[in-house]
Amino acid sequence: MPQATFRFPRGFLWGTATSSHQVEGGNSGNQWWLWEEGGHTLHRSGRACEWWNGRWKEDFDRAAEAGQNAHRFSIEWSRVQPKPDRWDEDAIEHYRQMARGLYDRGMTPLVTLHHFTDPIWLTEQGGWEQEGVVARFEAYVRRVVEALKDYVTLWCTINEPNVYALSGYVSGAFPPGKHDLKLAMQVMANMIRAHAAAYRAIHQIQREARVGYALHYRPMVARRAWSPLDRLMRALRYQGVNMAFPSAISEGVMRSPVAKVRLPEAKGTQDYLGINYYSQDTVWFNLRKPGELFTDSGFPKDADLSDTGFIANIPEGLFATLKWAAHTYPDLPILITENGVEDADDHMRPRYLAQHVHQVWRAINFNWPVKGYFYWTLVDNFEWERGWSQRFGLWALDPETQKRTRRPSADLYAEICRENGLSSEMVARYCPEVMEKLFP
Ligand code: NOJ
Repeated sequence: MPQATFRFPRGFLWGTATSSHQVEGGNSGNQWWLWEEGGHTLHRSGRACEWWNGRWKEDFDRAAEAGQNAHRFSIEWSRVQPKPDRWDEDAIEHYRQMARGLYDRGMTPLVTLHHFTDPIWLTEQGGWEQEGVVARFEAYVRRVVEALKDYVTLWCTINEPNVYALSGYVSGAFPPGKHDLKLAMQVMANMIRAHAAAYRAIHQIQREARVGYALHYRPMVARRAWSPLDRLMRALRYQGVNMAFPSAISEGVMRSPVAKVRLPEAKGTQDYLGINYYSQDTVWFNLRKPGELFTDSGFPKDADLSDTGFIANIPEGLFATLKWAAHTYPDLPILITENGVEDADDHMRPRYLAQHVHQVWRAINFNWPVKGYFYWTLVDNFEWERGWSQRFGLWALDPETQKRTRRPSADLYAEICRENGLSSEMVARYCPEVMEKLFP
């Protein structure tokens, strides 16, 4: 059989992504800590991966040795600003050291400023439900950017604002656990305002900055293509889940199924589009889901499912996502800020990884400007309401002993990063079951 390699452009960013609360441990100053104490999660974050105690160093070494040239991590607002009127200089220095740690290892840092967690004092003020959060967020962002600007030019203001708003205010799985679609859209509007304010503040401080946000994008298909009802539900859900932020940034108007809000300050506030892609949904009409506008979603019956059924391996969905991105924002650089699968024994991850990287390569061959790929995640970490039940890491973690164990996927990803490409030989070795699909 002929050998072949899907080659990537020079300078392509290959990394992994993490977030503060999921890896640091002991984050008792944020609202998630209280949510965990209240028994709303399967397990507690506890010591997590002990990054706050310095283990970020050994994990950055792992990433660097495995050929990665970039890493996405986040700043914990509650550590930087433990009280409304107090800044913690040691915490700020800690993050400066982390950014420098990447720089010293020859890796490009991508820094996220908000990844699901809020200081408890902010929650007590009404969190993202009230517009006062915009000025608060901007002040915090200014502080962080001033401190890290020697090492960081690539910024992500807010991670998955749609997931934050919908999980916290519709499904109720995230704090504050409410069920109010209108309020969710109010939260979303405030996140857009805060993003726009942060975008301008960062550019004021650092001219060369490249600022974006990370959109959780779910391609969707109607369960029965012939059913007008399923098609309508698909359109509604698609609009509600995916489009609030992008519409505000393209047109200065946040469009959602329940609200249309003018936000002219948001127009054009992105230098790249960050995409988190995991899977694609099948959507149908469900009379028992009035809170979700009678829409429901799932995966096809024959889907290649992850350990706990959370993710279906649908790589074509990533291609559809990149197509949407490239057509919606021609010429805007695209970063895949997250993509990954939970798979404790690594039986599925190698093919998931290879098949998704293959789709990125296909997209690049249409000249769509995809500039980087960040696998979620480096080491197993705290997976929010699902606790430690889902293992996304290239390295396995025993949270008790803090022992890290390399999964075969870490080797596959290292080969991809070093080669700046995916070869038929790698696929034959790590996931021969998809050889015919990738290299027919
Ligand atoms: C997206 C979120 O940004 C991240 O925090 C989470 O762990 C992954 N998805 C996996 O569910």
